[in-house]
Amino acid sequence: MRIDVVTIFPDYLAALDLSLVGKARRAGLLDLRVHDLRDWTDDRHRTVDDTPFGGGAGMVMRPDVWGRALDDLLPADGPARLVVPSPSGEVFTQRRAEALATEEHLVVACGRYEGIDARVVEHYRDRGVAVDELSLGDYVLNGGEVAALVMVEAVGRLLPGVVGNPHSLVEESHGEAGLLEYPVYTKPPVWQGREVPDVLLSGHHARIERWRRDEALRRTARRRPDMIAALGEDALDRRDREVLAEATGDADASVGEASHDADA
Ligand SMILES: C[S@@+](CC[C@H](N)C(=O)[O-])C[C@H]1O[C@@H](n2cnc3c(N)ncnc32)[C@H](O)[C@@H]1O
Repeated sequence: MRIDVVTIFPDYLAALDLSLVGKARRAGLLDLRVHDLRDWTDDRHRTVDDTPFGGGAGMVMRPDVWGRALDDLLPADGPARLVVPSPSGEVFTQRRAEALATEEHLVVACGRYEGIDARVVEHYRDRGVAVDELSLGDYVLNGGEVAALVMVEAVGRLLPGVVGNPHSLVEESHGEAGLLEYPVYTKPPVWQGREVPDVLLSGHHARIERWRRDEALRRTARRRPDMIAALGEDALDRRDREVLAEATGDADASVGEASHDADA
């Protein structure tokens, strides 16, 4: 997969040389290229922004500079997808990461200041480019670089060969089961007087699996009732329903409906 990131702070993306993503780059699994938007400016000051039409605080990123950069990076007939981090975009989730991981080529346009002139997204959509405006969450960052880091890491680790044991991706939070992950433990078996749950030392795989599922259900019910409410009718067996009923104090625990605790 190829990912181009365009930013006025290329050094911000240096962290992507580290850890699994850095390894994936060196192994040729991920072709990540970071570009300085100012390379597409045409004035002595390498200006990328200007004052907003209509007045108001802050500066807006110029469409002509972005247009030159994106024309160079988005091939006219290629499969590239444009990703624009924005606090007013749709929320970036694991499902989004999975979808983006199936793409051949992503171009990530990092905004700064008050953001990028709105005509840029319109123009590329009209030109037939698939554009995703994506938000990390309901808060405002100073720029799109942190979002680009998050997205490249979340997408990159899903590419075949990047995470050593692909099974570890299956049971994770926000995975196929639609639950948060169960709690995990390692050595020593007793720390600060706290013991690892006996079942995990039993070597009994079926029991361990059931215990982990129960814990994942309890944790999800407690912390993210919205995720329980979003589970499909077939997602839970009888034991799952018992665990949820106990966890929520709801004798009638059902899926597909908001839990009574959702607003608690
Ligand atoms: C200061 S923000 C602009 C905020 C914009 N004026 C607004 O109120 O929606 C500058 C840039 O940071 C990035 N950004 C800020 N918050 C973000 C978020 N929650 N998710 C993704 N990107 C974000 C975007 O690239 C945005 O263009």
